[in-house]
Amino acid sequence: MTSTDPRPADRAGDTGSTLVTGIGSLVTNDPEAGSGGPLGLLADAAVVLEAGRIAWVGPAAAAPTGADRVFDAAGRAVLPGFVDSHSHLVFAGDRTAEFNARMSGTAYTAGGIRTTVAATRAATDQALDANVARYVAEALRQGTTVLECKSGYGLTVEDEARALRIAGRHTDETTYLGAHVVAPEYADDPAGYVDLVTGPMLDACAPHARWVDVFCERGAFDGDQARAVLTAGARRGLTPRVHANQLTEGPGVRLAVELGAASADHCTHLSDADVAALADAAGTTVATLLPGAEFSTRAAYPDARRLLDAGATVALSTDCNPGSSFTTSVPFCIAVAVREMGMTPDEALWSATAGGAAALRRTDVGRVAVGARADLVLLDAPSHVHLAYRPGVPLVAGVWSAGRRVV
Ligand code: NIG
Ligand code: FE
Repeated sequence: MTSTDPRPADRAGDTGSTLVTGIGSLVTNDPEAGSGGPLGLLADAAVVLEAGRIAWVGPAAAAPTGADRVFDAAGRAVLPGFVDSHSHLVFAGDRTAEFNARMSGTAYTAGGIRTTVAATRAATDQALDANVARYVAEALRQGTTVLECKSGYGLTVEDEARALRIAGRHTDETTYLGAHVVAPEYADDPAGYVDLVTGPMLDACAPHARWVDVFCERGAFDGDQARAVLTAGARRGLTPRVHANQLTEGPGVRLAVELGAASADHCTHLSDADVAALADAAGTTVATLLPGAEFSTRAAYPDARRLLDAGATVALSTDCNPGSSFTTSVPFCIAVAVREMGMTPDEALWSATAGGAAALRRTDVGRVAVGARADLVLLDAPSHVHLAYRPGVPLVAGVWSAGRRVV
């Protein structure tokens, strides 16, 4: 860090403009702005942040003078903030024992979700809010500046609406997942539960959500039930996204594409027809891969290479939840995607930034371009490639969120 590096105590006062200069390697995700294809890489670059937005990007030697403060990156890499388009942070309780059993050979099933449902229902609003705040802060320290958050551990009208109200205090990207699993009270009446999810629960939740999601999977909701949930949500102005083809090949991906969902998430078990459908829908439906889930359930990873070669748009996210993927770390997901899923370091970085933005249908984040939100990550490394090259190392040395230095 240099003498111009704002110390934590100075951050609250970040008003006016900031010149971030001395950037050894800048990922813009603007192919016109630099080399390296989609990443639009600029060497020896600078960025001006003003009023929460990017005001200027270009060679450091040509940077405008007169900024209120100057930060010298001293040759290090700067990237857009990570966009984590899939998480489940409104929960209470702990599933260490389940993870431990899994690592000793027990298979993962959707059933564990009910353990968290019981703990979440029993928790106070304050406890749930504190939990979300804790994990959002943890994610921010690792470079995540936009984070989607789902309900899905309440499964009653009041508990789902409460989860979304709490999530909404921390992010605008809130997702109604009343159809996570059938609530225990409806174990013998799944159709009745779908009626609840598409009726009174939707009425209570729609005002607090932007998206509607469903876990389309054996042991959760079948294709017809998932369609009912997503179309009911869409009628209330919520855009669909789908937990699709995570544990088995099923109808989820094709349903997501058919309904014009923003994303089909997991995509672990895909037929050739699923891959072709995602490729055809590349401008509409993003294939969001969540390697934390396969890591933590000791399952085979999704084949990112197959999706990319077919032409699908791929996002990478954490799926942070207490059961199948208890990580907030996008850098971890990037490293796994590169090592295990056939992605290049460039592709993984794009998917964790611009890909996540596409999955949330956002053009204001996931890139470093004039007018975009001033969300930046500084790495203690000369290149974004180090995120995979140096797995597990805390490389995030600084984060700006809407122009303010927050880490
Ligand atoms: O995305 N797949 C469904 N939901 C979560 C798992 C949640 C849990 O096990 O608690 C997921 O992996
Ligand atoms: Fe999930």
